[in-house]
Amino acid sequence: MDIRENLQKISEELKQELLAIATVQELEALKVKVLGKKGSLTALLRGMGQLSPEERPKAGQLINETREQLTALLDEKQQALALKEKEERLLKEAIDVTEPRDLPQIGAVHPMQLVLNEVLDCFTSMGFSVAEGPEVELDHYNFELLNLPKNHPARDAQDTFYIDDNIVLRTHTSPVQARTMLSQKPPIRIVCPGRVFRADEMDATHSPVFHQIEGLVIDKDVTMGDLKGTLDAFAKRLYGNDIEVRFRPSFFPFTEPSAEVDLTCFNCHGKGCRVCKGTGWIEVLGCGMVNPKVLEMCGIDSKVYSGFAFGIGLERITMLRYGIKDLRLLFEGDLRFLKQFR
Ligand code: DAH
Repeated sequence: MDIRENLQKISEELKQELLAIATVQELEALKVKVLGKKGSLTALLRGMGQLSPEERPKAGQLINETREQLTALLDEKQQALALKEKEERLLKEAIDVTEPRDLPQIGAVHPMQLVLNEVLDCFTSMGFSVAEGPEVELDHYNFELLNLPKNHPARDAQDTFYIDDNIVLRTHTSPVQARTMLSQKPPIRIVCPGRVFRADEMDATHSPVFHQIEGLVIDKDVTMGDLKGTLDAFAKRLYGNDIEVRFRPSFFPFTEPSAEVDLTCFNCHGKGCRVCKGTGWIEVLGCGMVNPKVLEMCGIDSKVYSGFAFGIGLERITMLRYGIKDLRLLFEGDLRFLKQFR
């Protein structure tokens, strides 16, 4: 076969094969097959030895021309493949910036904190300041100074967690009253929010840990009328002007006289239902005029000063505020519940 025909054949085959090539690796293999050491074109070059000296330059030129053409074709294909592979890779790596992603979960303020904030706003706007006291408390402050001496029957009602004979988990926020009177001079106007503890079962209305907001006002000429006015303003601020406030005579050793305060039931609006046990009212706080005995024990002259105090149940007023019928919801941390307060 004449060299020209051979070159023609190699060219045609290569062009044909190029059409089917899809990867850089395949292309590399084809290049070796034709132009490599054992390639078909290289073989032709080697075969030149058998040609006559006159034929050689012409054949050499033809082979080199073909070699250049084929190399150019291979390079062209190589570039096209490289471009294609790059495009595919970029496509695969592309980030869709419009795709929704896992956003961090946004928290919500706990309903009790929401209500506490409102309560504190309400009282600070009336000139109260915020006080705090320890949760692990001396019997002395939790009971004695509040006119609950050892063996006083009213201690039974408190279901106290004792740490030892003299130390308790505070059963109410009232010890902060005693601490404040001992450390400040009248006039005194404080509210004290905090956790309190009682050896109670957990059910829809009870928990061994709950929260109270204590209030204390001591000044000259403070009356029961001031107490009623203050608590009435508080109730209206939280629940609107339609809320009804009922004072019921009661007993606490640290106040005289004492009262319990009820608000209209959020569930039945006074008709009577399961939530309010048919009464139409929900008890939210205890209050009264500070017992002169307590004033004296805490170093305040009861002939000059008088005062009132109250202890609000934070869980109760939160349930009332949002129509929550089970206290446990406030403690379980269920996101489905908490999310609703966002
Ligand atoms: N400490 C009482 C309790 O836990 C609530 C209370 C009643 C607080 C009357 C007061 C008060 O300050 O004057 O049941």
